[in-house]
Amino acid sequence: MAPPGRLLLSAAVVLLLLAAQHPAAAGQQVGDACSSDAGCGAGLHCSPCGPGGDKICTRAKPIDPATHGTGLPFNNYTWLTTHNSYALAGAVSATGAAIISPTNQEDTVTAQLKNGVRGLMLDTYDFNNDVWLCHSFGGTCYNITAFVRLCDQLNILLSCVLKTINVLKEIQTFLDANPSEVITIFLEDYTAAGSLPKVFKASGLMKYWFPVDKMPKSGGNWPLLKDMISQNLRLLVFTSKKSKEASEGIAYEWNYVVENQYGNEGMVPGKCPSRSESPPMDSKSQSLVLMNFFTTDPSQTGVCGNNSAPLVSMLKTCHDASGNRWPNYIAVDFYMRSDGGGAPLATDVANGHTANSTFGTCVIPPPPPPSKASKPDSGGTKAGDASAALAQSNHQWSFFLGLSSLLALLLW
Ligand SMILES: *[C@@H]1O[C@H](CO)[C@@H](O)[C@H](O)[C@H]1NC(C)=O
Ligand SMILES: *[C@@H]1O[C@H](CO)[C@@H](O)[C@H](O)[C@H]1NC(C)=O
Ligand SMILES: *[C@@H]1O[C@H](CO)[C@@H](O)[C@H](O)[C@H]1NC(C)=O
Ligand SMILES: *[C@@H]1O[C@H](CO)[C@@H](O)[C@H](O)[C@H]1NC(C)=O
Repeated sequence: MAPPGRLLLSAAVVLLLLAAQHPAAAGQQVGDACSSDAGCGAGLHCSPCGPGGDKICTRAKPIDPATHGTGLPFNNYTWLTTHNSYALAGAVSATGAAIISPTNQEDTVTAQLKNGVRGLMLDTYDFNNDVWLCHSFGGTCYNITAFVRLCDQLNILLSCVLKTINVLKEIQTFLDANPSEVITIFLEDYTAAGSLPKVFKASGLMKYWFPVDKMPKSGGNWPLLKDMISQNLRLLVFTSKKSKEASEGIAYEWNYVVENQYGNEGMVPGKCPSRSESPPMDSKSQSLVLMNFFTTDPSQTGVCGNNSAPLVSMLKTCHDASGNRWPNYIAVDFYMRSDGGGAPLATDVANGHTANSTFGTCVIPPPPPPSKASKPDSGGTKAGDASAALAQSNHQWSFFLGLSSLLALLLW
């Protein structure tokens, strides 16, 4: 099927030569030492994922899947997805309480969306006369486990989009400002009947709502991405509560999506079992595939390694387990952390297969493992958008060599 590793390697040598002819542009690159985000190039984040916990620049942004065009069915694209998108390290509960729950991400939903995250996993609870994003003890949300409101229902007359901080407002603001973007929400839903329709109606998001009756049954293709965009059906919402599909028009996730086991059990190399609620991974009655890859107890240090080679390796395992389908959603904790190309790279790799049939001819330039971590952070080199983008593309080419051997190992 794909070109042999040898071809990739010689292509990589050519790219390396090309890269050598381009002096590095301003801005630190993947794997370079840094002290803050401002010291890294565009699309990069400064994380303590280097050797010994040193801070290095890591990728935060996948290549926009739409660079492959928007003319394919939605199920031919792969979207970076954040697990518990709202559970931010260091967050104080919007109730004012100090939060004792584990956390899974480091930047706001707005910042995640700006980085290209397009799948959001949210746990919804009825709490304090509103719907909150929360963790629970025995199914109950408390001040000390409640992060933020999904929407501010108490102010329903003003509509939650006018209120201060709530996640649906962040999503609405982003969809309004970015008319070609599609977002998927996966709800781990603990709310009672009637709660969600109220907040979604108050959110100003219904105009983007992708209706259940347009979702493909029996594993058919989704509409073309460009048609979803032109029809403005740019918000997909899935719930974990089966009854809500018939009663509230919120799609029951596992009618449309197969999903592998989450947590430690889902991270065993070479295995990609489905989670208990999901049909088997190779069930063809669902046309979307979601891959979870995060530990049961989130760890900001452990994630650096897990979000790198093991993630890309699991992508292939889940592809094989899913009837040769590449995952459409790649869900991780701390998506900006890795000691290689991370979840953005895994997203690029999947899109290289599904969205672009010319993959293998070096159209995808992904950046893996850091090794020149000793360069000091030059700081103040944050360049304008154009040259920063150039810097990023240069570093991507120069990191191609490492990746090509990784890919050769994994995929061929
Ligand atoms: C694949 O990617 C290349 C380069 O980005 C682009 O020129 C080509 O049109 C893409 N093919 C498809 C089918 O999207
Ligand atoms: C929870 O927070 C609310 C404020 O949002 C406060 O009114 C309430 O007393 C708190 N409950 C507890 C048990 O601390
Ligand atoms: C994955 O995460 C676990 C838990 O934090 C950790 O023990 C393990 O070392 C990590 N794996 C890699 C390859 O870093
Ligand atoms: C779209 O995805 C299907 C299923 O994964 C695959 O068979 C097909 O080749 C993809 N189409 C393109 C143009 O890549």
